[in-house]
Amino acid sequence: MINRNKVLKNIIELQNITVFQQRNKVFDNFSLSLERGQNTVILGPNGAGKTTLLKLLNRELYIVENENSSIKLFGKDRWNVQQLRAHLGVVSHHLQSNYSNNALGLYVVLSGFYASDGIWQHQNFDTEHIELAHQTMHLLGIEDLKSRQFSTMSTGEQRKFLLARALVHDPEVLVLDEPTSGLDLRACFQYLEIIQGLMSTGKNVILVTHHVHEIPPEITRAILLKEAKVVDDGDKTKILTGKILSKLFDRPIKIIEENGFYQALPG
Ligand SMILES: Nc1ncnc2c1ncn2[C@@H]1O[C@H](COP(=O)(O)OP(=O)(O)OP(=O)(O)O)[C@@H](O)[C@H]1O
Ligand SMILES: [Mg+2]
Repeated sequence: MINRNKVLKNIIELQNITVFQQRNKVFDNFSLSLERGQNTVILGPNGAGKTTLLKLLNRELYIVENENSSIKLFGKDRWNVQQLRAHLGVVSHHLQSNYSNNALGLYVVLSGFYASDGIWQHQNFDTEHIELAHQTMHLLGIEDLKSRQFSTMSTGEQRKFLLARALVHDPEVLVLDEPTSGLDLRACFQYLEIIQGLMSTGKNVILVTHHVHEIPPEITRAILLKEAKVVDDGDKTKILTGKILSKLFDRPIKIIEENGFYQALPG
């Protein structure tokens, strides 16, 4: 009998997957499940496989098919990108750095509704989509920049537009890739506040990073990734310790925690 509770519980279920980046086998027989409602950080050093994992979720990479492997998102193993975006919003500055620099703010947000990045010049946008784009820009306080070219925005402004692009669908789950890298302290804390606000209204967040300072208190589960393997997984407060992170990053690290936020120092 199918266990329906289990199907509904896991939003992401990877089983025994193998993934290549060109000729390089990155994941080999890798398994991971992420639960609905559980805000999670995936933390790992450079080269651990974080971006590869995101590309997999974003359908930019595919698993090697074999009888033991499967990738299920929201209980389904086949998705078209458009439908998936309504469930899973991926915000990655790195993955979107080839984004059209000439696009105006409004069209960056609207492009969340359409598959390709280069369609805004000739696309007739739906009035409902335009209204939703305005509401999302209003929510993030970026409406004033709707007619500005993406390339002329600051890093923090661009980051908010990419967040708006993912949020315009009101997806159930947001996946954030190093969301505050390159932001100054004000922009960093402001961005974190926006993310915290979204979590407080029930949005599920999966954060992928190598920076402990960008992990908001609302995140409860920590998964440590190293050389494309899960080396630790559990309650964040038990995992984000100097001892465990020193092992993860192969050097002595001291961790300070205050009000649910973390900072790393040389150990
Ligand atoms: N296009 C590519 N072709 C071949 N190998 C790649 C490619 N991109 C990544 N890799 C390799 O895959 C492995 C995982 O890389 P990935 O980019 O997923 O790491 P990461 O955890 O995101 O690291 P970082 O913190 O530096 O962003 C690394 O060994 C990397 O060299
Ligand atoms: Mg990366």
